[in-house]
Amino acid sequence: MHPAGVKIATRGAKILRPAAPGAASTIMKAVILAGGEGTRLRPLTLSIPKPVAPVVDRPFLRHQLDLLAGAGVSEVVFSVAYHPEQVEAVFGDGRGFGIRIRYAVESTPLGTGGAVKNAEPLLDERTIVLNGDVLMDLDLASIVARHEAAQAAASIVLTPVRNPEAYGLVETDLEGRVLRFVEKPRPEQIRTNTINAGVYVLETPVLELMPPGVQYSIERGFFPTLLERGDRVLGPVHEGYWIDIGTPQQYLQVHHDILARRFPVELDGEPRAGGWIHKDATVSEGTALEAPFYVGPGCRVEPGAHLGPNAVLVADVHVAPGARVRDSVIWRAARIGPEAEVAKSVVGPGVALGRSSRLVGGLLGEGSVLSDYSRNS
Ligand code: GTP
Repeated sequence: MHPAGVKIATRGAKILRPAAPGAASTIMKAVILAGGEGTRLRPLTLSIPKPVAPVVDRPFLRHQLDLLAGAGVSEVVFSVAYHPEQVEAVFGDGRGFGIRIRYAVESTPLGTGGAVKNAEPLLDERTIVLNGDVLMDLDLASIVARHEAAQAAASIVLTPVRNPEAYGLVETDLEGRVLRFVEKPRPEQIRTNTINAGVYVLETPVLELMPPGVQYSIERGFFPTLLERGDRVLGPVHEGYWIDIGTPQQYLQVHHDILARRFPVELDGEPRAGGWIHKDATVSEGTALEAPFYVGPGCRVEPGAHLGPNAVLVADVHVAPGARVRDSVIWRAARIGPEAEVAKSVVGPGVALGRSSRLVGGLLGEGSVLSDYSRNS
């Protein structure tokens, strides 16, 4: 018997009884899967791992910590493998973020399932797991309540998508119980539009099914195994905001959504002209401001520059006279030269764009230099 009172089912059986009375109201722990290399966001992620990549005014995972803290989670295990020292340098033990943070470090990446297994010694009887690259306005407390009421072994939060053919689908029955997973569906196989949203509630004892210390996928290995055994797996559908920030396009999209308040975040700046300007930023009188935009601490925008719409200057960015930035995110300490133009791009830390250069739909890694008059379109 697990200390929490959950008896592990033998093959083909179900979990026999839920955690001890009152367990659901005890402190809940969460694991954030934050060890991926973020290859789709290269070159940005070569030097800065996705968990600490800025999303408007804060490192990405702070958005997730806010969600978890709001749901009453008081301790989070960061499961890290790629540049773990950077994640730890930013988040430390969680002081200042209102939540206790511990780290489960993999010496080699173990995949999404292996990573949760690796964190097992730090967990209690019930665990929330989040992919470290999704952002959503989930009512986590109600997901946990439904999970508990149904005495489920696992709940996989689902989200509807417009183009189900592009995803692995998760089918549920009328009571919201997961029936099957359909990877790369052929048109005639598409009976649902819901996909795995990358948020799970797990009865921790079921992790005993996972092999320790080896690469293992929670989506392709663990969940199908639970279904095969006949365990109760719920698939509650989240109808609200959801995004996976893992591609350049989606990364830009989440900024547009926050600036347009489609995803509510209290930004660290003073509202001005339909955007936000940090109190420690300098924006010259002669700047054309087109809402929405965000100008972070230490930024300096010179007269005759044009910002927006959807321009985000993260911190310490210099925008020279006559430069124009729209639909783009400019990371810390980048310099945009006189008359330069940036659109639909992400500009990494310390990048220098020369005079009259032009970057449209570009991604520039840390320290890149675009010389005067260079252009990519
Ligand atoms: P891409 O390389 O661009 O696909 O991104 P990724 O490395 O983040 O992979 P993916 O989007 O499939 O990962 C989903 C989530 O799981 C992300 O939050 C990753 O950080 C995390 N993740 C993926 N693989 C591992 C792993 O081996 N260990 C840990 N700890 N986390 C992982």
